[in-house]
Amino acid sequence: MERAVSKVAVIGAGSMGSGIAAQFANGGVPVLLLDVASPGEDRAAPARAGVDRQLKAQGFMDPSAAKLVSVGCIENDLAAVADADWIVEAVVEDLAVKRRLFARLDGLRKPGAVVSSNTSTIPLAQLTEGASESFRRDFVITHFFNPPRHMRLMELVAGPGTAPETAALVREAAGTLLGKTVVDCRDTPAFIANRLGCHWMSVAAIEALRHGLTVEQADAVAGAPFGVPRTGIFGLLDLVGIDLVPLVWGSLLGALPPVDAHHRHDLTAEPLIRRLIAEGRIGRKAKGGFYRLAPGSKAREALDLATGEYRPQAEASANRDLAALIRQEDAAGRYAWAVLSNSIAYTAAVAGEIADDVAAIDTAMRLGYGWAEGPFALADRVGCAAIADRLAAEGREVPPLLAAAAAQGGFHRRAADGRETRATTGAWTPVRRPPGVLDLAEVKERGPRFAGNGSASVWDLGDGVACLEFHTKMNAIDRGILAMVAEAAERVPAEFRALILYNDNPRAFSAGANLGYFVERLEAEDFAALERFVEQGQAAFRALKHAAIPVVGAPAGLAVGGGCEVLLHCDAIQAHAETYIGLVELKVGIVPGWRGTAELLLRWGRRTDRPAGPEGTAQTAFGTIAGARVTGSALEARTLGYLRPEDGITMGRDRLLGDAKAKALALAGSYRPPGVGSVTLPGPAGREALQAIVQDWRQDGRASQHDEVVADWLAGVCCGGPGAGPQSPVDEDALAGLEQEALSALIREPATRARIRHMLDTGKPLRN
Ligand code: NAI
Repeated sequence: MERAVSKVAVIGAGSMGSGIAAQFANGGVPVLLLDVASPGEDRAAPARAGVDRQLKAQGFMDPSAAKLVSVGCIENDLAAVADADWIVEAVVEDLAVKRRLFARLDGLRKPGAVVSSNTSTIPLAQLTEGASESFRRDFVITHFFNPPRHMRLMELVAGPGTAPETAALVREAAGTLLGKTVVDCRDTPAFIANRLGCHWMSVAAIEALRHGLTVEQADAVAGAPFGVPRTGIFGLLDLVGIDLVPLVWGSLLGALPPVDAHHRHDLTAEPLIRRLIAEGRIGRKAKGGFYRLAPGSKAREALDLATGEYRPQAEASANRDLAALIRQEDAAGRYAWAVLSNSIAYTAAVAGEIADDVAAIDTAMRLGYGWAEGPFALADRVGCAAIADRLAAEGREVPPLLAAAAAQGGFHRRAADGRETRATTGAWTPVRRPPGVLDLAEVKERGPRFAGNGSASVWDLGDGVACLEFHTKMNAIDRGILAMVAEAAERVPAEFRALILYNDNPRAFSAGANLGYFVERLEAEDFAALERFVEQGQAAFRALKHAAIPVVGAPAGLAVGGGCEVLLHCDAIQAHAETYIGLVELKVGIVPGWRGTAELLLRWGRRTDRPAGPEGTAQTAFGTIAGARVTGSALEARTLGYLRPEDGITMGRDRLLGDAKAKALALAGSYRPPGVGSVTLPGPAGREALQAIVQDWRQDGRASQHDEVVADWLAGVCCGGPGAGPQSPVDEDALAGLEQEALSALIREPATRARIRHMLDTGKPLRN
């Protein structure tokens, strides 16, 4: 029988359980969420509180997803787990409580239903001690990270009794339904990420004290040069909460044998840590920790590690080139070497105990701790031989795995057909990827580039599918990108069956038109250049829409302004669930002018599920653009019409390109390019109605003076111009002409220039 996950139960509605339930709901899976019974009338109140907490914390990608969660209490409703294909346990970290629950679940679950524990510290062997054989066959640990919506890592531990199909089912469901990158771990204390992450944090904090660095210096050294989040070490301890040190680190130290190197950097024994906890100075959730805001003012202060007093925070920086930094003969250099050498030596020493290959460890540290690379990729960057030689010269132990890497070309390498990584036994092994995961970086390594310039490139994804990649800063659209869009629209159809718009930027599919260029031309009063920029974009996007092959947009992250407009021209979208999309042009004093207004109007004109008629179409598009809101997820983008009901959403970031390619191939078979679209719009009468709405906004303070000017131009476009009306549909090219006219006028407004300048300088809209 084919096993699939179509219904889930989560037991324990605390921070993790409620977050995991929300993420299943985000993936479209109905969830039963149970917690202990409330003594009050509403027995399900604790579980309900979990849902409310996730609604507040935006654990749901759209509030509507919460409807998929039904709540109850363990006492009354546990029997309902019989419907679930996967039961996730996320109750308190208490072995006896968990075991008692498992015994009850075993009697209630349907045959073959998976049971998993979210434990962070209890070994699988202990959790399943005394359990039935069939329970053990269906049992795994699924260790999620907090918050479950945003943390991509899920560590998976299968036991000796776990059926391979069970682990495979969980891997697949976690990848596709929850969007997690699953890392297989062994049944060892704290698995991979927390074992190594806690060690790194202990080393980084304790060595900073030993080397006499200030907290700012330590964070500058242990942060950016290591590819570690900017908080560095002390900022991270403040974020995590220093009070967790005895709990988390304490439990880890208790579980590890005395020979484990964790015991050589024991954070729980550090007098400064103890003192901060005793004084309640436990970080951001309290009145401060290593950093704080000075009482009564907003000035940032840092802890003087020698005196334990606060003083004004100082600027600190470090050489970003870690290989050079560790050779520096000063405190920063010696500290960097201490952190690097201890971390790499420990990671290499324990790798064989915790993982099959070094890629799993690097992935766990990237996705669990936000490192840019994992420790092994970091060692490759600095040079494995340099690290091993220096350890040996200092009379320190060189773990065999590090010695092997030092002697034979590092931990990762390119191979003829993909990438190879080192198994923790030392041998090269191919990087394994779940089916459906396609990596653009690998495609690029293989090359050659089909077309490209400094801003964008076209790659061959195989099977007749091409990928147009933007690669400017935040993928801001400049003339280079527009040129490549036009070139791709013209040249790709001759050699490919479909085109995908996709890139690997972790933050932005595209942040929209390059505002720097706007400001530069505006300040030179070179309006003609900007008019040409608008025309170039209109021509490029039009060509994309009417290209002879299907075009699939595959955004992830920010897709705003021009970045949204280009997507509106695609035949279909496959969006990552975490896509934040919107036409935000009004915030910088313009209207969407690369045919985005036109496309949105055409879309609403075709929809039959919304206020119909020319007025309805104009008002909906106008309201959406005037609102200038960026959606909080792809799910929400469906409500605003940026995504059509038939556009796809991919939960897993690493599956996006593969899904987009499948969608493109599905469209390619019977594709016919769209004709020139037209839409019926209300004309001047409609414009008056929209103007009246804007007047109201202005009166109640929702619109500023310049908002009114811009909204008026927008209303003109949305209503189809002076000749439009119920009997005279307007085609997309006429609408594009109206956009151009509006833009030509608006770029000459000093208030628009001020808005763009302000946005560029501060990242915030100016309400002038
Ligand atoms: P929490 O304290 O927020 O929630 C625990 C829930 O268990 C509460 O809703 C509580 O009502 C319920 N509970 C208490 N006694 C119970 C009993 N006898 N029977 C059934 N339910 C009971 O805890 P959190 O943080 O959600 O942790 C849950 C599990 O996830 C633990 O095993 C923890 O180690 C693990 N974990 C926690 C992470 C985190 O960052 N908080 C990260 C990864 C794993």
